[in-house]
Amino acid sequence: MVHAEASTFAEGLSKKEVYGQVLEQAKALFEGQRNWVTDVVELGLVSSYRKQSDMLTSLTLQASNLANTASLLWHAFHSLPSPSNSVNWVGFYVLDPKAPQQLILGPFQGQVACQTIALGKGVCGTAAQSKRTQLVDNVDKFPGHIACDGATKSEIVVPVVKDGETVAIIDIDCAELNGFSVEDRVALEELAELLAESCDF
Ligand code: SME
Repeated sequence: MVHAEASTFAEGLSKKEVYGQVLEQAKALFEGQRNWVTDVVELGLVSSYRKQSDMLTSLTLQASNLANTASLLWHAFHSLPSPSNSVNWVGFYVLDPKAPQQLILGPFQGQVACQTIALGKGVCGTAAQSKRTQLVDNVDKFPGHIACDGATKSEIVVPVVKDGETVAIIDIDCAELNGFSVEDRVALEELAELLAESCDF
């Protein structure tokens, strides 16, 4: 049973310990759930449910792996000292199934953000197209950075690659310069691999 406690991170843990907990909780939350988001096809089956409570139970069980991951990461960063606790956006963009040359906004934590990003554009589109993590110490120095939020000073974007193709990206913004390090890159790449294995994109 999914419990809110999964996204509780004790104060005073090291980043290594916090990422360890993120990966452990993510594995537990993904068990038996292959959905990156609640399956909209399920909504078409609404009339086949005998009663509304059956439908709600089924939809609740269709937990969204990306939404839960965004929550885990948000709380993980905010349990850490500066600069990690200055993370102001954590979320996903997913390859648009209707227009594969662009990404569309997925589950996130933080303020509203741009809805579509063309492959090759901005930090997200660059990571998606190149299939390589973009670790940006200062977004003002990244040509073509898309400023959804003027408060963002640094950013890391990690592609989720499945069968050799980018299916989504993890995007994390920080309101401080040099918000992310190689330690973040390594842990987030491991998380991206887990997501690629665990979800039906
Ligand atoms: N800064 C990103 C756009 C997405 S927002 O940060 C949420 C980019 O340059 O691709």
